[in-house]
Amino acid sequence: MKKVITYGSFDLFHEGHYNLLKRAKALGDYLIVGVTTEQYDESRGKLNIVDSLDKRIEHVRQTGFADEVIVEDHPGQKAEDVQKYGIDIFTVGSDWIGAFDHMKQYCQVVYLERTKNISSTVIRTQQYPIIRIGVIGTGRIAIRFVPEAKYVSGVIVNSVCNPCRTSAEQFRERFELDLATDDLDVFFDAVDAVYIASPHETHYGYARRALGAGKHVLCEKPLAFCKKEAEELYALALGKKLVLLEAVKTAYCPGFVQLIGIAKSGIIGKICDVEACFTRLADKKRRECTDVKYGGGFTEFGSHTLLPILKLMGTDYQELRFDSILDRNGIDLYTKASFVYENGMALSKSGVGVKSEGQLLISGTQGYILAESPWWLTQYFEVRYEDPSRKERYFSNFLGDGLRYEISDFAAMIQGHQNRAFKFTAEESIAAAGVMEAFLLKRARE
Ligand code: CTP
Repeated sequence: MKKVITYGSFDLFHEGHYNLLKRAKALGDYLIVGVTTEQYDESRGKLNIVDSLDKRIEHVRQTGFADEVIVEDHPGQKAEDVQKYGIDIFTVGSDWIGAFDHMKQYCQVVYLERTKNISSTVIRTQQYPIIRIGVIGTGRIAIRFVPEAKYVSGVIVNSVCNPCRTSAEQFRERFELDLATDDLDVFFDAVDAVYIASPHETHYGYARRALGAGKHVLCEKPLAFCKKEAEELYALALGKKLVLLEAVKTAYCPGFVQLIGIAKSGIIGKICDVEACFTRLADKKRRECTDVKYGGGFTEFGSHTLLPILKLMGTDYQELRFDSILDRNGIDLYTKASFVYENGMALSKSGVGVKSEGQLLISGTQGYILAESPWWLTQYFEVRYEDPSRKERYFSNFLGDGLRYEISDFAAMIQGHQNRAFKFTAEESIAAAGVMEAFLLKRARE
């Protein structure tokens, strides 16, 4: 019996997939089809898969060509499968010519002709019109955003807005965008969604205007410096059926999502304490160290450290206390925010003028989770127990700058095929704004 194997995502099952499976089956007597998991696709840079694994497998089965369907979930699996199942022919479409020549050491490799003019990507863009994103602000983070957006299918960054026209124009040229303007109304006319990457204190104002103009909003952290403003923004978004996401990058990256899932699984017992630290010594001339009103360690990095605290301990803390080391101008070089909860506690450490170990430590009644620096770009963490020889290690991919994950979630939510807001909920984002507000009030008093 001649055994054939092929692999694919088979998202939004189409004629090209059907033809490929038919031709693959015709190559032998028994066809095995490997369908990729969403996580595996994500790790190889294929974001925005629409159909669930279940649905994609079902579609493959319904063709009647597959004698067996397996799941592909890790790199290197193809070589294992070919040997394990005693495969004679490995086949994929002609878009992969050359890419699988290394499989020739195990079996025959056949590249089948690809059906022209159809692909999941094409269907995705027909089904969900391309989301035109405009960027407000042209600073460090905006510069990183545009190249990352290219990895997300279904979105295009086409415009930039900045009160300084020259900066907007330079940004437009650099990234070959269609529009650079200092006029928000002109800008809103050209886009479906906005990414707000302007100075912190302008986030709320821009988000309000954008939502008011009917645009979806992905807003850099902190979304707002007071709870009421954050509440108002989410209410506005809800009322207008728009997506509003606070762009705390870490929240959307696969490793961090996994860490939260594992922490909440009960593996370390009841979570009693979360300690998160993020410090980066900043240039004394930079905004972080010169802006007396909104600069400093906590406003800069607090959004990162608050994320695991609010996600794991909740938003309902009973006491909150800040201790800071301030510079001559009253800017905090280092801040500890201590939370007391009904059944636990948490500590955030952030700084622009004091260096510390940037780790995330989650302590429970049966063990603890340790994610070392840079935990906010989560690629690796360990679950440890009383017995030091017992240690579980978790690895995850973190592609490029990591911004692509939040962009992909933002797009999926706009398209409405998945709700990914659980990664950083409105409630958590509002609570973060409340903590910022309490901090700024306290600092202003000192
Ligand atoms: N395929 C094909 N003809 C097409 C599209 C896909 O023969 N028009 C083949 C691919 O070469 C591959 C298999 O179908 O062997 C599964 O491909 P997959 O990547 O799931 O589909 P695409 O439509 O190419 O997906 P995307 O647009 O997301 O890359």
